Amino acid sequence: MRAVTERRELSSIAYGFMASKALFAALGVDLFTHLAAGPRTAAELSDDTGIAAHRLRTLLHALSAVGLIVAEGQSYANAPACQRYLVRGAPGDFGEYFRLQVAQQIYPALVHLDAGLAGTGAAFNTFADLLSRPAEARMFTAAQHAGSQAAARVLAARTPLEGARTMLDVGGGSGAFSIALCTRNPSLHATVVDFPAVVDVARTYSEEAGLGGRIDLLPGDAVHIQWPSEQDVVLLSYLLSALGDTEIDVVLAKAQTSLAPGGLLIVHDFMLDDVAPGPAFAALWFLQYLAYRSDGVSFSADALSGRLRDHGFVPAPSEVLIPETTKTILCRKAST
Ligand SMILES: C[S@@+](CC[C@H](N)C(=O)[O-])C[C@H]1O[C@@H](n2cnc3c(N)ncnc32)[C@H](O)[C@@H]1O
Repeated sequence: MRAVTERRELSSIAYGFMASKALFAALGVDLFTHLAAGPRTAAELSDDTGIAAHRLRTLLHALSAVGLIVAEGQSYANAPACQRYLVRGAPGDFGEYFRLQVAQQIYPALVHLDAGLAGTGAAFNTFADLLSRPAEARMFTAAQHAGSQAAARVLAARTPLEGARTMLDVGGGSGAFSIALCTRNPSLHATVVDFPAVVDVARTYSEEAGLGGRIDLLPGDAVHIQWPSEQDVVLLSYLLSALGDTEIDVVLAKAQTSLAPGGLLIVHDFMLDDVAPGPAFAALWFLQYLAYRSDGVSFSADALSGRLRDHGFVPAPSEVLIPETTKTILCRKAST
């Protein structure tokens, strides 16, 4: 990333939270879905959303100013990315991820970032606290499902698991990755480990996918419970970034013990670049975790590979899964 030189660039970063909020407000009134069938006037959108026209116009001006919608005469249309990714029911739709998790949980939690940074407090006492509340767990997990499905399908398509029969999906959330991997690999049975209120939500998704019989649920704190042994695959998707520094070692040690000889560990997470700063999305995701817990750490693929080696794994080179955001590292456990 180029160093900023202009005052305007500083403003763009400083006011970025207002643009975020404009996007979240639009998602909150389903604006992009109301525009899915074609351009609409402010008056029509006022009827659609129930927002008074004079207030809605202010939102429409902000959204068109940042490029999320396009003004066409008296009407407004979705920008191409909004039409593709933020219209409810569209094939690429992941609006629920922004609307529920990013807008309603992460955005408000960020006011605690200064305290997290100072080490004097945090929004919640870790995920265990946030996700022990059933309503929060439902919201977080539904959102994560919307956010993870596309990445899960890509991982499943490019990671052959021939012969694998058992997989432990630790911090598996909705089970989005278990669903994609079990769909691709008909002999695979998965076990999703997550907090009790989260696995209650995961049950709905595996049953909806017709995989209730092949996806088991194991409620509990992965740092403290015993993991099943002789697993062919252990998957850690977005788990390590959510843990404290010492917990990462606990989880990697448990993964090593849980895998059968020759078994495969798949780590999917935010990872910094090894040499250059960034990428920005990964770096910012690590930063937001400090609002939740002051023992959170950020890591690059290289640093994580070193930690994996310390736990007896032989990591392959990392691969990008979500560009500018996440990578995967695959490691075999030695077969003897
Ligand atoms: C960002 S979500 C990712 C969910 C899923 N792996 C995916 O990629 O879609 C992180 C998940 O880790 C779970 N988690 C965090 N800490 C955990 C712990 N100590 N034990 C079990 N689950 C945990 C959270 O409840 C949440 O479901």
